[in-house]
Amino acid sequence: MGPCTAEKITEKVYWVGAIDWGVRDFHGYLTSRGSTYNAFLIIDEKITLIDTVKKQFKNEMLARISSVIPPEKIDYIISNHSEMDHTGCLTDMIDLAKPEKVFASSMGKKALGRHFHYDDDVITAVKNGENISLGESSITFVETRMLHWPDSMVTYLDTEKMMFSQDGFGMHLASTERYDDQLPPQVLLEETEKYFANILLPFSPMVSGLMKKLAELDLDIQLLCPDHGPIWRSDISGILQRWEKWALQKCSKKALVIYDTMWKSTGYLADAICDGLGSEGISARVMPLESSHRSDVATAVLDVGALIVGSPTINGQMFPRVADVLTYLKGLKPKNLIGAVFGSYGWSGEAVKDVEKYLEDMKIPLAAESLRVVYVPSDDDLVKARELGIAVGKELKEKCSE
Ligand code: FEO
Repeated sequence: MGPCTAEKITEKVYWVGAIDWGVRDFHGYLTSRGSTYNAFLIIDEKITLIDTVKKQFKNEMLARISSVIPPEKIDYIISNHSEMDHTGCLTDMIDLAKPEKVFASSMGKKALGRHFHYDDDVITAVKNGENISLGESSITFVETRMLHWPDSMVTYLDTEKMMFSQDGFGMHLASTERYDDQLPPQVLLEETEKYFANILLPFSPMVSGLMKKLAELDLDIQLLCPDHGPIWRSDISGILQRWEKWALQKCSKKALVIYDTMWKSTGYLADAICDGLGSEGISARVMPLESSHRSDVATAVLDVGALIVGSPTINGQMFPRVADVLTYLKGLKPKNLIGAVFGSYGWSGEAVKDVEKYLEDMKIPLAAESLRVVYVPSDDDLVKARELGIAVGKELKEKCSE
């Protein structure tokens, strides 16, 4: 079956997932450090597989399972989340193992039925709070609807004090290390923040609800096992607190200036705006879109209180990379931001209006009048750009002090 082997996590549980060193695009998200698809094998009277992996990694998962038991011995499969990076091998595993039961949430049963066109009796739907015995241990299911799909749920294994949290508390990070304390804290912070910003941000209210629910359940979680990235064993409270904080999207005295430019005119304005923000004591970051991926912009947005967008006009509309990033950000529904718009143009200058419309749709109020400059900015234009930065900075300080 191959050289890959399972990694023992506890007396009863093995990691049998796959490492995707090469993936760099996950639905538009730049996964610079690759990813893992974590699957877990529980050895009890009922041998249970929790989630599977992306289809092309089937042999890697099967090799890891086979290093512990023949895959045909699996009695139960639990699908915590129907997305195909975790269910890509589900049909193969059902065909191979012929498990007694395949469990999913009620929404998961529907989603899997539609993905794989299963007959109604293939998946057993479980209810929120339902508990099933595996022998010595038992599993409790907790529904986490819209985190981040309607079907999502997490499962808790009592004897091992393990929470299998599907995408929850995960990150895209390929590594041979399986635990948080084996990896550099800065890498964990960067990748969890990026994961939250790009995947969970639209569902922030549900994240806050989940945190409340977990606190009420008062589960003793010693190992928090997401479907991507390392298992949390040393800093469980840290990752929970970070999610709680990010979900709130509190006012931040930081600003982000994003822009694209053709002959640097819009770029000069961006630099002057940044200078104005700095003069107000605002921590500002400029991201030229020529060299900034949309998913890195989304991560930066999570940390700021103001989003200032610049675009030149090309062929009567905003620049393509600006449209790309704004379309992406709009879907992520960032909250509690103020904004401003600027741009250079040659003869018609529609880009500023295009960007204003996006910010309006995103419910980002403008903190200053938009700045449009014909061709190359003059010294006066640069002063106006600096004043725009100052105006946004003042507004942001006032807003954050409320
Ligand atoms: Fe990792 Fe939503 O799938």
